[in-house]
Amino acid sequence: MPADAAVIAESIRHGALWGLLPDALQQQVAGFSEQEVLESCRHVLVRPHPLEVPVAGMALLNPALAGSWLAVFADLGLPRELAVYEPCAGSSEPIALATEVYSGGQGRYVTLNLNQRLAAELRPKLARLRGDWQIIDDYAQLAGQHLAPGSFDVACFHHAVNDLVQTAVAEPRGMDTRSLEWWSHERQMIEWLAEEFEAGELALRARPALVAAVAQAATLVRPGGWLIFDHWTWERYRQVDWFPFGLFTELIPLARGWIAAAGLPLREATPASLDPQWWMAWQRTA
Ligand SMILES: C[S@@+](CC[C@H](N)C(=O)[O-])C[C@H]1O[C@@H](n2cnc3c(N)ncnc32)[C@H](O)[C@@H]1O
Repeated sequence: MPADAAVIAESIRHGALWGLLPDALQQQVAGFSEQEVLESCRHVLVRPHPLEVPVAGMALLNPALAGSWLAVFADLGLPRELAVYEPCAGSSEPIALATEVYSGGQGRYVTLNLNQRLAAELRPKLARLRGDWQIIDDYAQLAGQHLAPGSFDVACFHHAVNDLVQTAVAEPRGMDTRSLEWWSHERQMIEWLAEEFEAGELALRARPALVAAVAQAATLVRPGGWLIFDHWTWERYRQVDWFPFGLFTELIPLARGWIAAAGLPLREATPASLDPQWWMAWQRTA
């Protein structure tokens, strides 16, 4: 079943997602009308996100994204007491919230993440989780040094393809992506990525970094387990001269080709409910 904006909005206003939000955000939600919450959930489900951002749009972006992932977990029939691995969470909580709600507090959530400031911002957002959660400070390409093979039901690459490839082109240029303030440096990372894309050089750094992280995730999930990817961007970036809009709308198809050619024990089985331009799901075969 495709994600339903009305179901997500209800969960944010009165349901399980609402119960996980920090106090300040719960108060904000109480100040939004039913229609405002619904509009923001509809906005999140459209890709690229339309130019006009609803009143509650930015405040509810991550809870609404969590709702979209909950629908995918259900569609794939994942077990309720699920273990979830997320590379590159940064300060983003959608996957952790989806894990908690889907499992009724019985789940396990682990992220491998490099940037320390973003990780520090994530911690308080997970304060209301009852399930186990852990943030590990290391490369997703080294996940197997921290986590046991076959110990997860699903790996969620939530808007993480760009994170992996941006970091892969920035570090060789001397940028310390672990300690810097991420947002003020992200434009530079994206510009370097765009340069390598224009030069036809993604195979040098971007592709090996992505494939290595995916190979680790494929080992961490049990046979029959899943690797799920999404990406989204904003319509307003179409006109931004330094932003490689074409590349950012093609990241999932590009990654699909790289994974298919990598010889990993995975087969793509993206459900019909998901737009393959912005989502893909791969199942571990053996
Ligand atoms: C902007 S945050 C993105 C969070 C989330 N994926 C989202 O889009 O909402 C990017 C995070 O990915 C992390 N990251 C990038 N490459 C990584 C890698 N190879 N291993 C682990 N973390 C990585 C960065 O350190 C940063 O914390």
